[in-house]
Amino acid sequence: MRVAMIGTGYVGLVSGTCFADFGHVVTCIDKDASKIDALNNGRIPIYEPGLQDLVAKNVAEERLFFRTDPKDAIREADAVFIAVGTPTRRGDGHADLSYVYAAAEEIAGLIDGFTVIVTKSTVPVGTGDEVEAIVRRTNPDADFAVVSNPEFLREGAAISDFKRPDRVIVGTESQRAVGVMQELYRPLFLNETPIIVTRRRTSELTKYAANAFLAVKITFINEIADLCEKVGANVQEVSRGIGLDNRIGSKFLHAGPGYGGSCFPKDTLALSRIAAEAGSNLKIVDSVIEVNAARKKKMADKVIDFMGGDVSGKTVALLGLAFKPNTDDMREAPSIDIVEKLQAAGARIRAYDPASMEEAGKYMKDVLFCDGPYHAIENADVVVIVTEWDQFRALDLDRVKSLLKTPKVVDLRNIYKPDYMKDRGFDYTSVGRTY
Ligand code: UDX
Repeated sequence: MRVAMIGTGYVGLVSGTCFADFGHVVTCIDKDASKIDALNNGRIPIYEPGLQDLVAKNVAEERLFFRTDPKDAIREADAVFIAVGTPTRRGDGHADLSYVYAAAEEIAGLIDGFTVIVTKSTVPVGTGDEVEAIVRRTNPDADFAVVSNPEFLREGAAISDFKRPDRVIVGTESQRAVGVMQELYRPLFLNETPIIVTRRRTSELTKYAANAFLAVKITFINEIADLCEKVGANVQEVSRGIGLDNRIGSKFLHAGPGYGGSCFPKDTLALSRIAAEAGSNLKIVDSVIEVNAARKKKMADKVIDFMGGDVSGKTVALLGLAFKPNTDDMREAPSIDIVEKLQAAGARIRAYDPASMEEAGKYMKDVLFCDGPYHAIENADVVVIVTEWDQFRALDLDRVKSLLKTPKVVDLRNIYKPDYMKDRGFDYTSVGRTY
């Protein structure tokens, strides 16, 4: 099959590369010439384990191409994917669909023969209808079908999520389009991945519902963690105790500093707006948005309380800045709120992150970015673990203790055990664990 992928952001680049690796001929298209230039020279604009090698392999085997000019690729394509950004629109929280609609218009003028137009970007319910109307209006003779095929990949695990998904969702009323989609995903049938064929609107809503549900799960356990601290319980044991119930499931029950990233914050907000406009408010999702935003700020208070209520003139060493490990993505990262609030309270910040310090520089001021975890800890009054990178799980604790002014650790990801840290001579606090 021939695929054109519009947009070489996270989803576009990973999906395009993986489709090429399935054996299809894929052209990734982006208007940003410097990005395309970089990709053609083997430079990947995002940090994603395994992606660089997979791109290089498929480029070398001539199944993966990067172009600024969409003409040939779209004309020849069996399927054109729209994987452009849908950022939160300033002011009203809705998803900004201008890139999606611009792509639809461009595609309309270029398709030749039956073409499946697929939205991979997370888009509000009804966007597929609008894309269809735009294509029809722009090119009344076009032979096409519009499919919703949301992507569920996680940053840092994107390739395995794409190649071994829990399910694939295909939303369309066109049987012919279903045939094309089945052919595209054929390698997954061999793994018996369930493919759910449904209507377009249902598919569009499913993506938002999935992300919102996961955000609910995280926020629920975060609130239970707060309660654990008040009543003398341990949230990790509560998580395990409830997670082993198959109806609940053990994943996404890790208490922490609140969720961040490019998807959960944006998609919960967009879903809330969709629901409000449809006259069917989602009160649970609305609360989750509010509770999570407050939680990120509250994590700075936790540090301040731990330091006896005053951090002015104190040095705080932050380990981890990205919203989660194995990515350099800083969007909506809890570290941003934590740094801001600690600085406002008079603290000096030293920080280290294995991948995101360059990005972090765009989100925070007056932070001393350090060469490694021990450099960050040097002469600090307290260490705060914000992101659970593997390398922070195996710190040389004697060295940490000798470098710190006072042996204080705030572990916002629960990667160390309270008893163990106490035995090693640390004054230690974590999230939702009183023992
Ligand atoms: C998410 C969805 O998982 C993915 O299916 C969707 O396509 C895009 O959004 P991503 O944003 O890459 O993926 O990261 P994810 O691993 O889901 O983590 C999101 C946030 O939740 C992170 O800030 C993470 O630290 C936090 N989280 C996750 C928790 O605090 N506790 C958990 O138990 C799980």
